[in-house]
Amino acid sequence: MYTEKVMDHFEHPRNVGEIENASGIGTVGNAKCGDIMRMYLDIDENQTIRDVKFKTYGCGAAVATSSMATELVKGKSIQEAMKITNKAVMEALDGLPPVKVHCSLLAEEAIHAALWDYAQKQGIEIEGLKKPKSDIHEEEEEEEEY
Ligand code: FES
Repeated sequence: MYTEKVMDHFEHPRNVGEIENASGIGTVGNAKCGDIMRMYLDIDENQTIRDVKFKTYGCGAAVATSSMATELVKGKSIQEAMKITNKAVMEALDGLPPVKVHCSLLAEEAIHAALWDYAQKQGIEIEGLKKPKSDIHEEEEEEEEY
């Protein structure tokens, strides 16, 4: 049911942990499954993401997508990181089963929430970035209820 890449990132998640004095921290949750994701970003003065770590109380798909998402944003500018969607993360993992698609949103939302926190602290605006919500996309989940 899971691709090899998903299994690899689930069994050996990259960038797990926290960053002390992080430039931005974002925590998001999914109200339905109760899973929580926290993302830490270390961003340098050129707005490049120097380091990223995550912690989760989430399912295997949430772990794998977050792990892949951290790999994709590391070393990127904040504008580039804004373009990394959950779809891009899923593609990088060779896909997720449809019932697990919502799990990949936790990673995207957590990155956005951490970028939001960074922008607040710096007093800047990041183009295209909206204030994070704590509950993610209910409508995505309805699809899997039958
Ligand atoms: Fe909750 Fe996957 S089931 S994040």
